[in-house]
Amino acid sequence: MQQRPRLVIGNWKMNGDLASNAALVASVVAGLATETDCQVAVCVPFPYLSQVAGRLTGSSIALGSQDVSEFERGAFTGEVSASMLHDFGCRYAIVGHSERRTWFGDTSERVALKAERAIGQGITPIACIGETLQEREQGRAEEIVAMQLDAVLERIGTKGIAASVLAYEPVWAIGTGKTAAPEEAQAMHASIRAHVAKHDAKVAAGLVILYGGSVKASNAGLLFGCADIDGGLIGGASLVADDFLGIVKAKTGTAAS
Ligand code: 13P
Repeated sequence: MQQRPRLVIGNWKMNGDLASNAALVASVVAGLATETDCQVAVCVPFPYLSQVAGRLTGSSIALGSQDVSEFERGAFTGEVSASMLHDFGCRYAIVGHSERRTWFGDTSERVALKAERAIGQGITPIACIGETLQEREQGRAEEIVAMQLDAVLERIGTKGIAASVLAYEPVWAIGTGKTAAPEEAQAMHASIRAHVAKHDAKVAAGLVILYGGSVKASNAGLLFGCADIDGGLIGGASLVADDFLGIVKAKTGTAAS
């Protein structure tokens, strides 16, 4: 079985200010000063990229954005291009988060274009996929996730997928305190990997697939202990240093109190 690195990424969403960011990053950097075999990144709001980049210098924590434009450059007021993110040292860009799909009209096709732009600048897209509660209750969860994945696959191919990270985030688990049960999340992760394997088994075996949705220090160990769950995309708990560090350091296969 292929060993994949554990990856834990904080998605700050639209939170933070100069003072609280400085305190949060300082605590996370200090907490990770000793060796951890987990790769860590924080995806921060665009205006704070420069601030956080500066404060991460010399640490092992990578920087990411929460979105990227599907366009290269030009008259697209309000957009931020992949090359701009590259200028500020972004290693990751989240694309297709369900909040963007829900509130800002990001279709799967647009998400695929965004992933392509990120890859074009050497930035790893974190492509988010996941079903709503209604879709799950209708028994369509796997079908919906496969459709979202296919849109990305069609655009960037398995070569692009090999340069990406996927995040399975069931919409009903985001910010609700309702985590998918480890077996439930594992089943979906396995199905995502199997779907990619139909195109390229080697790419599928090496693909990092994160789980997102109400991950906490108390459930991270059980989730990360699942064979096809390679880490987490963390919302609320990434805003509190101790909570985030507890997730990063969660012992695989154990439930902490
Ligand atoms: P929560 O961890 O707050 O549920 O958010 C998950 C998420 O949306 C990460 O992208």
